[in-house]
Amino acid sequence: MLGHLAASGIHPANADKDALYSELSSQIDGLLEGEIDVIANLANAAAAIYHSLPSLNWAGFYLARGTELVLGPFQGKPASVRIPIGNGVCGAAAIRRESVLVPDVHTFPGHIACDVASQSELVVPLIRDQTLIGVLDLDSPLPARFDARDQAGCEALVAVILRRLGNIPAV
Ligand code: SME
Repeated sequence: MLGHLAASGIHPANADKDALYSELSSQIDGLLEGEIDVIANLANAAAAIYHSLPSLNWAGFYLARGTELVLGPFQGKPASVRIPIGNGVCGAAAIRRESVLVPDVHTFPGHIACDVASQSELVVPLIRDQTLIGVLDLDSPLPARFDARDQAGCEALVAVILRRLGNIPAV
């Protein structure tokens, strides 16, 4: 198995990572299937992510409310409730409408420290029909915990979540 992977040029750790995201994607798909309540679905997605991906100290959602992101379902320590779009890593991902991968949060201008243990962060925006719905935010106590495979994996998770999310409540 490992010899086969080495021969194929795929590092075993990366194969494990791809398999983990694939499994988690199926798990979230199943958890959200048939439920249209957005809060319930985001709560289960946050719990599944937090308990499946190693070395996280926070995983959850902020929801777009006008010019701000407002704290949504999450796992981890209590966090900032309102983040102006454009501020912090979450606000940067929201305004750029693209994922932001931060290997060292101390070097990110304007990083908002919700938990002093956080060393690295990955934020993926949730965009449906060109509308920003919110962001998925992952924090880790390990420096450089997230790489391009985590970004691609989390973007795939967000695609599943968006497909199953249900009706977004009016602001
Ligand atoms: N670090 C984030 C704030 C949210 S907490 O990490 C949960 C940021 O800079 O936007």
